[in-house]
Amino acid sequence: MTSILILNGPNLNLLGTRQPEVYGSTTLADVEAMCRAHGTGFELSFEQSNHEGVLIDHIHAAKGVHAGIILNAGAYTHTSIAMMDAIASVGLPLVEVHLSNIHARETFRHKSFIAPVALGQICGFGAQGYLLAMDALKRHLSH
Ligand code: DQA
Repeated sequence: MTSILILNGPNLNLLGTRQPEVYGSTTLADVEAMCRAHGTGFELSFEQSNHEGVLIDHIHAAKGVHAGIILNAGAYTHTSIAMMDAIASVGLPLVEVHLSNIHARETFRHKSFIAPVALGQICGFGAQGYLLAMDALKRHLSH
């Protein structure tokens, strides 16, 4: 399998106009274009949803189809035991991404339910974080 899923959660469809002082002016379409241009040799699937259950369905559907997942779960990062369980259930390698440095923000953002079931977490590097995550996943999958 040479394909990876890049999955974005709630409010990330508003990137570019949403609190640009926090998240920058890059849109989600720009992020997708950057990832495609980055070219790690993987086929890329991009999905975004504002709904927790839909995100979980995407994680379930990735099993047997994608070799790994890059996930920015947005605010569900800090609340969703259900997403954590879904990731653990499919057993796919996953890199957690956040545009902002969640550890330098409000304390409720310091907790991640994704982190314990992720290979690792990349945060604070804006849209570049997705590219770093692609490199990390590629390296993981080639070992
Ligand atoms: C975010 C950080 C989350 O705390 C926030 O709820 C988001 C975006 C980020 O990419 O920095 O929606 O995941």
